[in-house]
Amino acid sequence: MCGIVAYIGPREAYPVLIKGLHRLEYRGYDSAGICLLNDDIRIFKCKGKVSDLEDYVAGKNTSGTIGMAHTRWATHGEPNTINAHPHFSQNRTIALIHNGIIENYMVLRSELKNRGYIFTSETDTEVLVHLIEDIMISEQVAVEDAVRIALNQVIGAYAIVILARDSPDKIIAARKGSPMVLGIGKGEFFVASDATPLIEYTDNVVYLNDEEIAIIERGKDLKIKTIRNQSHTPYIQKLALSLNEIEKGGFEHFMLKEIYEQPRSIFDSMRGRLHIDQGNVTLGGIRDYEQKILNAKRIIITACGTSWHAGLVGEYLIEDLARIPVEVEYSSEFRYRNPVLNEDDVVIAISQSGETADTLAAIDLAKSKGATVLGICNVVGSSIARATHAGVYTHAGPEIGVASTKAFTAQVAVLTLLGLLIAQKKGTIPNSRFQKILLELDSIPAKVERILQLNDKIRDIATIYKDVKNSLYLGRGYNFPVALEGALKLKEISYIHAEGYPAAEMKHGPIALIDEHMPVLFIATRRGIYEKVISNIEEVKARKGKIIAIVTEGDESVKNLADHCIEIPDTEEMLIPLLATIPLQLLSYHIAVMRNCNVDQPRNLAKSVTVE
Ligand code: G6P
Repeated sequence: MCGIVAYIGPREAYPVLIKGLHRLEYRGYDSAGICLLNDDIRIFKCKGKVSDLEDYVAGKNTSGTIGMAHTRWATHGEPNTINAHPHFSQNRTIALIHNGIIENYMVLRSELKNRGYIFTSETDTEVLVHLIEDIMISEQVAVEDAVRIALNQVIGAYAIVILARDSPDKIIAARKGSPMVLGIGKGEFFVASDATPLIEYTDNVVYLNDEEIAIIERGKDLKIKTIRNQSHTPYIQKLALSLNEIEKGGFEHFMLKEIYEQPRSIFDSMRGRLHIDQGNVTLGGIRDYEQKILNAKRIIITACGTSWHAGLVGEYLIEDLARIPVEVEYSSEFRYRNPVLNEDDVVIAISQSGETADTLAAIDLAKSKGATVLGICNVVGSSIARATHAGVYTHAGPEIGVASTKAFTAQVAVLTLLGLLIAQKKGTIPNSRFQKILLELDSIPAKVERILQLNDKIRDIATIYKDVKNSLYLGRGYNFPVALEGALKLKEISYIHAEGYPAAEMKHGPIALIDEHMPVLFIATRRGIYEKVISNIEEVKARKGKIIAIVTEGDESVKNLADHCIEIPDTEEMLIPLLATIPLQLLSYHIAVMRNCNVDQPRNLAKSVTVE
C-alpha cells in the first residue's frame, strides 16, 4: 500500500509528481504529500486525496526539477496531516517517503529518543529519517552510505525515497518487500511504486530488487548497490504498457471500464495458449515445470481476496479435470500455520498485483520447504512473478479500480487452461470432452459481450435494492466461489453487508436472517445440481426473502420463483464462473454509484496490499 513517485531531470518536477500520484492513488488515498528540492527542501502535505493536496498547494512555490511524492494508506498512526509523508529529519536536512512497515520501529524509536530525537508523528517511517540523519552526523558519511548503514538495522518492508538538502542533485531510493521501479529517460530519472507514472516519459525501466539501493544523480549513470555495499549492474528492461491502457477511455469509472474490457481481457489471457486448430493448450511460461506438475501428488493454491476466490474455482476445475487433489489456502493463514509441504508439492500463487505481502511470504515458505512454486500474476515483472520458479501471466491489462473484476475472470481463464493442459497430458479426460470444453472456452468472450448488454436491466434491479442493509449470495458447486466473489464486490464498494455462502449451508445459520427485507442472490444456472438449488430457492421464498437469480437463458423453473432473473448464456458447468460473475460485478457497481460511493477507491481499501 502507499504509492511513491520521484523525479529528477530537466522538467519541473511538480506536474510529473502530481500526475504520478493520481495514477498511484489506487494504492492508498488517506493523505498525500510532496517534497521539492532546490535551494531548500519544501514539503507540502495534507489529509485526504491527491486532489486535496493540489488544492492545498495551489498558489505556493512548487518550482524545482527534483522532487518526490507519496499517497498514503495508513498502517501506523491515523490518517492526518502530521502522519502524512514526506517526513523530515530533526534538522530538516533530509526528507523521506516510505511504503511498507518497519517492524522494529519501537526499538529504533526509543534508541533515537534517548539520543535526543523528537518525534512529531505516530508513524513507523519517521524512525528511518532520523536514523539516517543520525548516521550522517555521527559517522560523517554521504547520504547514500547513511541509508545503507541504516537499512542494515531495519527489520521489515520498505520502498523508500530520500532527498537531502545538501545533495540537491541526488535521489536515493531503496527497496525490500515493497515494489519499486526506476524509469530511465534522456537525462532524467523516475522512481515509482509501479510503472504507470512513467509510461509517457520512457519505456526503459529497472525493477529494483530486494535490499538494493539506487543512487540517482543528475547527469550521471544510475548506480545500484546492495545494503551490503556490493555494486550491481542495472538490468534495463523494456516496458510493455501503453498510456490508453491506464486511462478511463470515456467510462465514468475505471471499474466500469474494466468490467467492459472482459471480452478482450479473457481473450488475451487465452491468446496463443488455446489452440482450437491443434486441439490443445500450451502455457509457455511453465513448460519447463510441466513434468513436475503432472507428477504432483497435490497442488496447493495460495492467494488473498478476489484471487483466493479464483483459486477456489481452480480447485474445482483442476480436481474435476485433472484428478489431482487441490487445496486452497489464504496466504495470510498458510504462511503462519506450519503447513505440511514437501518437494512433491506444486504451489500456485495467484495475485493480480504480484505484490501482496502475505502471498509473497507464502511463496518464500513453500520454496524453503522445497516445493515447486508457480505464479499466476497480472502485473509483469512484479515481485511475485519474480519470486516464483515459473508462471503464467494473465495479460488482463492494468487493473486500476480497487475492486478486482477483469483480473478475476482472467485468473479463472488461466486456471481453466491449466486444468485442461494437465488433464490432456495425464489422460484424465476423454478427447471428445476435452475438445468440447476447448470450443466452449473459445466462445466465452462473445458470451461475456452478450451479458454486458444486460447492463440496463441490471441497473434497474440495482435501483430497487440500493438501500438494503444486508444481502446473501448463494451458489453451489462452481457457483459457490461466484457467490463469494459477488458478495465481496458488493461489500467492498457499496458498504452493504453481504455474505456469500454455499446455498445448502444456508440452512445451518443464514436462513435465520431471512425475512421480507432480505435480498438473496442465487446463482442458479441450469447445470450441475440445479434442482437442489431450486429447493434452496424455495426455502428462501417460503420465508419471504426477495430473490434475485442468475439463470441460464430460457430458464422457466427459477423464473416462477424469483423476483428478478438475469439470464446468461448456457455453457459448460466449469466455465459458468466466467459468465455468472459479470452481472454480479455490474450489480455491485450500479448499487455503489447510486449510493454515491467512491467506486474506484472505496474507503479503507487499497489495491495492492504490501503489508501483512
Ligand atoms: C486487495 C484488493 C483485492 C485483491 C486482494 C489480493 O484486497 O483490494 O481486489 O483481490 O488485495 O490482491 P492480489 O493483487 O494479490 O490479487
